[in-house]
Amino acid sequence: MSDQPIEIVRLTPHCGAEIRGVDLSRPLGGPAFEEVHKALVEHGVIFFRDQRLTPEQHKAFARRFGELHIHPAYPRLLDGHPEIMEIYADETSKRVAGEDWHSDVSCDPRPPLGSVLYMLEVPPVGGDTLFASMYAAYEALSAPMRRFLEGMTAVHDGEYVYRGRYEGASEEGKTYPRAEHPVVRTHPVSGRQALFVNRIFTRRIVQLADAESEAVLEMLFRHVETPEFQCRFRWQPRSVAFWDNRCVQHHAMWDYYPQRRRGLRVTIQGDAPFHRA
Ligand code: SIN
Repeated sequence: MSDQPIEIVRLTPHCGAEIRGVDLSRPLGGPAFEEVHKALVEHGVIFFRDQRLTPEQHKAFARRFGELHIHPAYPRLLDGHPEIMEIYADETSKRVAGEDWHSDVSCDPRPPLGSVLYMLEVPPVGGDTLFASMYAAYEALSAPMRRFLEGMTAVHDGEYVYRGRYEGASEEGKTYPRAEHPVVRTHPVSGRQALFVNRIFTRRIVQLADAESEAVLEMLFRHVETPEFQCRFRWQPRSVAFWDNRCVQHHAMWDYYPQRRRGLRVTIQGDAPFHRA
C-alpha cells in the first residue's frame, strides 16, 4: 500500500471519516502525520482498512501522538506488551469492554487522548462500534443550558466501575483513579467545546445537589445518544479505528453473542481536561 495520496472519506456530517492511502505499519512522514492528526481532530474518529500491524508497529503508530497509557484495571493484556489490551469476547464472556457510551478511562486525572483499536477477528454479523461527536452534543444544547453547564465540574469514578469487575483479578491493596473534570471541556487542539460526561464513569456534578445532579446527568446521558451525532463502524478483520476521547464517545455493540470477536487496543495518554470560555 503506498502512502500517497491520502484520501479522506467522511462517514457522517458530525463524526467519522475513513482514511485511504496510509500504511500504518510504516513510520508516518511529517506531512502524512499532519494530515492524519488533522483528520482525527476534525472528525473525532478515523478508520483505516486492510492494515497489517505487529504489536510493535501498532505501538509505534500510537506513540506518534503521545506517550502510551497503561490501563488501571483491565486484566487481559497482550503477553509482553502491558500497553496493549486484548478486546475479546466469545461464548464464555459475561461482559465486553465498552458496552455503554463512554470516553475511555475518563476517571484518570489525565484521561486518554485517544485509542487505536486494531480488529483481528469479527463475528459473521454484528459487533459494530458506535461513535458520537461531543462537539455536536454540546452545540445542540440550548444557549441557556450551555451557559448553565459552563464552569461546572463532575466526578468520574474508577472505583465504582472497576472494583470487582474482572473475575479472578487480584485487587488486594488496589485503588482506582477518580478525578474531577469540567462538564464542558475545551479541545486543546481545535479549541472547540465538547460535552465531557459519560454514563460509565461520571457519578455527579459537584456544584449541584444530589437530586439535581442526577436529573441533569440523566438528561445529558440521553442527549449524548442522539442518533444525529453518531456514526457506526462495521469492522472487517484488520480494520483500525482511532478515536479522540476528548471529543467523541463510543459504544461497543455486543449483539453477536455467542460469536467471537477479538482486537488489540493501544491507548494514548492525554492531558488534564480544562475549560476555556
Ligand atoms: C472499547 O475500547 O471501549 C471497546 C471498543 C470495541 O470493542 O469496539
